[in-house]
Amino acid sequence: MSSYLDDARPETDQAGTPHLRPALHYTARDTWLNDPNGLVFYRGTYHLYYQNNPHGNVWGNMSWGHATSTDLVQWTEQPVAIACDDAEDIYSGSIVVDHANCSGFGSAENPPLVAIYTSAFKSGADYEGTQAQSLAYSNDAGMTWTKFAGNPVLTRGSANFRDPKVFSYPGPDGLCWVMAAVEAGEQKVVFYRSANLRDWELASEFGPANAAGGEWECPDLFPLPVDGDPDRTKWVLVVNINPGAVAGGSGGQYFVGDFDGFTFTPDPSSLLDSPVYATSGAGAEAGRLRECRWLDWGRDYYAAVSFSNIPDGRRLMIGWLSNWDYANSLPTFPWRSGMSLVREVSLETVDGRPALVQAPVLPPLESVQRLDGRELHGVQPLPEILPGEAQVIDAEILPGAADRCGFRLWEDSDGGAAVLAYEPAAGVLTLDRTDAGETAFHQAFASVESAPVALEDGVLTLRIVVDHCSVEVFAQGGKVVLTDLIFPRVGNKGSSVFAEGGAAIFRKLAVAAVG
Ligand code: FRU
Repeated sequence: MSSYLDDARPETDQAGTPHLRPALHYTARDTWLNDPNGLVFYRGTYHLYYQNNPHGNVWGNMSWGHATSTDLVQWTEQPVAIACDDAEDIYSGSIVVDHANCSGFGSAENPPLVAIYTSAFKSGADYEGTQAQSLAYSNDAGMTWTKFAGNPVLTRGSANFRDPKVFSYPGPDGLCWVMAAVEAGEQKVVFYRSANLRDWELASEFGPANAAGGEWECPDLFPLPVDGDPDRTKWVLVVNINPGAVAGGSGGQYFVGDFDGFTFTPDPSSLLDSPVYATSGAGAEAGRLRECRWLDWGRDYYAAVSFSNIPDGRRLMIGWLSNWDYANSLPTFPWRSGMSLVREVSLETVDGRPALVQAPVLPPLESVQRLDGRELHGVQPLPEILPGEAQVIDAEILPGAADRCGFRLWEDSDGGAAVLAYEPAAGVLTLDRTDAGETAFHQAFASVESAPVALEDGVLTLRIVVDHCSVEVFAQGGKVVLTDLIFPRVGNKGSSVFAEGGAAIFRKLAVAAVG
């Protein structure tokens, strides 16, 4: 198998952007990536495959890149796993461990890993103009892959049938494989069933529902206990949408409900009266978008899906840290785009209904500076963000008399910064990147994101991960998450806390340097 990692690549004389290379987030060495694909744990290793252009740093030549990790934090890039060819691009999909070898691609002693991916057929190919589902298998624990000679295994004659997420479902007759995929342009998730991963039968369809103003992409469906109670299991259907997400462009919504192996039935508390076809902007329709349930209220968490075969019941997700509105223009070089941190998700009762709660997987926080117990009216500096290091900021804030309080990140000498602000009267957390570092590379980039956040016993709890070109904010223990890219200029390293209009108490303020 050859890939660019084996190539003797010529040295480039273009200046790179090492100050934007994340310490904690995965990026490919010098190529483009988008969606995470085939997330799977097998024999002690976490595998992250992803949409990759092995030959460039804009979208194209879609293939599955590959990285591995033993701790979900440090990732090692591996050779390209499944490469495009003259007939097909390799679009998004998933991987399962076929423990019983029901596909016949391995043996009971050495179960195959089976990738279910979308073949996007090129002109001149047999299935030209359509997207269909295909298989590849690995008999060496995910390092090399062989395309199945009988591909594609599932066609609908559709140009927008893609992104299969497969999982096993225990039925009365034993395990059955279930696929959730999309008819992207019809805002539908389509469910199929199979006994052997090769032959598939339609089981049901879901959608359109809730946010439906763009293409539905990259679905996922998984069970979780509510409030940790194994007797109260609910199913979470994740549907990514582009455009038409709450912050504009790409984003991920979810539904909570039940699944019987054939049909997903959303809880009434998860459904709006009718789908929302707004794509962005103001007005009542756009306002209804805020009533949908979002994985993230920022602009840069897309195509999020979960790992398969995690042994201990944890549900771990990764999203692509970008947005199709401007993804091909991001000002990094030689790579372009990265992945979010891994997020462990759970279901907790919030305001009387089950809601997803997310926590980032982080390395141990060792060098922590404590600045707790400050009453502040004004601005106070925080430890500088040092090159090569990410910061994890943990704060418990009592806004008290302040109208607005929060953080100014990556301040530059002209007073610009990324401003994360909480307004207690409105109950809203905003992240304003309009005056933060580089924004001019695309006219759709500069933006202000906002999410509803209620104080809990008068307190706002934030975990903020600041990493070279991104900020991920987990509010109130991960009930609300907001993720944005920010591209600080070389030398922007100052940051501060602030309170305006009155004093706020930063009861806890801990800043850890990681990296
Ligand atoms: C989502 C997506 C998928 C598709 C892939 C192509 O970002 O559009 O629907 O499979 O990217 O790269």
